[in-house]
Amino acid sequence: MTEKKRISVSDLRSQRWFAAPGQPGNHKSYRTKQMGYAGEDFRDKPVIGIINTWSELASCHTHFPQRVEDVKRGVWQAGGFPVELPALSVSESYVRPSTLIYRNLLAMDTEEILRSHPVDGAVLMGGCDKTTPALLMGTASMNIPAIFVPAGAMLSGHFRGRRNLGTGSSTWAALADFRAGKIDEKTWRAFGEGTARSPGTCNTMGTASTMTSLVDVLGMSLPGASSIPAVDSTHSQMASLAGRRIVEMVWEDLRPRDIVSRASFLNAVVADMALSGSTNSLIHLIAMARRLEIALSLDDFSTAAEAVPVVCNLQPSGKYLMEDFYYAGGLRALLSVIRDQLDLSCLTVTGRSLGEEIEGAAPYDSDVIRPLDNPVYAAGGLVVLKGNLAPRGAVLKRAAASPQLLKHTGPAIVFPNFKEMLAHIDDPDLDVTPDSVLVLQDAGPIGAPGMPEWGMLPIPKKLLAQGVRDMVRISDARMSGTSYGTCILHVCPESRVGGPLALVRTGDLIRLDTDARSLDLLITEEEFAQRRADWTPPPPHYQRGYGALFSEHVLQADEGCDLDFLAKPGMTPDPEAGFS
Ligand code: FES
Repeated sequence: MTEKKRISVSDLRSQRWFAAPGQPGNHKSYRTKQMGYAGEDFRDKPVIGIINTWSELASCHTHFPQRVEDVKRGVWQAGGFPVELPALSVSESYVRPSTLIYRNLLAMDTEEILRSHPVDGAVLMGGCDKTTPALLMGTASMNIPAIFVPAGAMLSGHFRGRRNLGTGSSTWAALADFRAGKIDEKTWRAFGEGTARSPGTCNTMGTASTMTSLVDVLGMSLPGASSIPAVDSTHSQMASLAGRRIVEMVWEDLRPRDIVSRASFLNAVVADMALSGSTNSLIHLIAMARRLEIALSLDDFSTAAEAVPVVCNLQPSGKYLMEDFYYAGGLRALLSVIRDQLDLSCLTVTGRSLGEEIEGAAPYDSDVIRPLDNPVYAAGGLVVLKGNLAPRGAVLKRAAASPQLLKHTGPAIVFPNFKEMLAHIDDPDLDVTPDSVLVLQDAGPIGAPGMPEWGMLPIPKKLLAQGVRDMVRISDARMSGTSYGTCILHVCPESRVGGPLALVRTGDLIRLDTDARSLDLLITEEEFAQRRADWTPPPPHYQRGYGALFSEHVLQADEGCDLDFLAKPGMTPDPEAGFS
């Protein structure tokens, strides 16, 4: 057995600040007294930065103030010195115009907080959609020992005797009923309130639970942590254990680049298919991989989509919610079902392999986590489409789409932007039938801006009244992980940069063939060329500020929508002794 690597006190990064005799930074150690700490509280101990994305407008992270105390307890117990470092709070519920814009700012914030402070290791506290990839992206670039503490999902929704109401998924269905005149606004609002049960992230397999699960698969949180409900007492225990473990990780010098490999990412892609995870996961996983200089592309998702069935029976593709998933054994149980498709030698933050960490795990409920011979869906939940309308790809959540629409040709109804769509979608004179294909332009990373979750375009009221609940919808936007329907998303390149989506006109025929993985605009090459020559880009949204920085540097969806100068490899100097 090989000896585990151990570093010594003099190797601690924080010692450059706290214990460099004769160096200008040395005097800073006495300023800890201002905070009420005696020398022995921090001397010769690893400093653990707790990066907290809590705020009073981050509703999913309401419980983080207590969890920070839980983490600190663990850090103290293990002989570390915990310090809470607040980071940008990116609440999916309240941040506008799009949280994707601020994912990149939080990633930069995380990296620079860690770089500029005397920190030896980090506990990353996130969960609401973009916070998870952002924290991981920043930490990957910084590459210091780190462990992710997921917020955990909220409790299952209840309303007037109905159980299993999913945040988002059930609310979208109720919204369609409200728009169709089947329920009144008061009932719809009460329905929404019934899904907001407790602190914690959305309780479906939406973006939050997908991303926390995938980070768990990558080995960056305590195994199985992502499945624990936010308000379960086990969640506090998990936070405390994470605090203890990160101190050991510092002494072992166990860093993200030691833990996460291309094989780990391929495991995450496989799990994503089995979970029928959020379409947002493609963007986030690619962005995270690029920060670690690991190649990951849409083709990797395409390959897995053929080989891995959906075995997780959670909304929006299935029936149950995250609380049920936890009681059914959670992520470790799910991974045990698909273990033959995983590289079990991949490492985790525990220092043990994924295979060791799922040893003995098995589902307790074979309807929530299905066996391979009785899947929810025989193939992977997500499918990548390509064609003359999406030369660099588009994505469809096949498992949450209508089977009869997976092969469909219909005439386009084009909305040049979101505002126009809202103004005309319910127009009684709109020439729309259930066979029409709704197309939204200018909703991509630069266009909208920030690629908002507008991809589940509303069904026109006059069709809702006829009982229509799904149509083929196409955009360069994203879609909430809690959404469903035959919505083709992330069309790349986006229309704002002259992608083919910008050239579609009302009445054009569009052909979707999911089996063939194709999405095509049925016009001639000559017509395509003429429209391309006639196209002019709209003026930019931003003249200055972060919005301008984002728009000038954001990469397209197939490259993860990171900022180009953050995604590229290269070294950033770490502050040396005396650097202040
Ligand atoms: Fe925070 Fe859904 S709004 S996870």
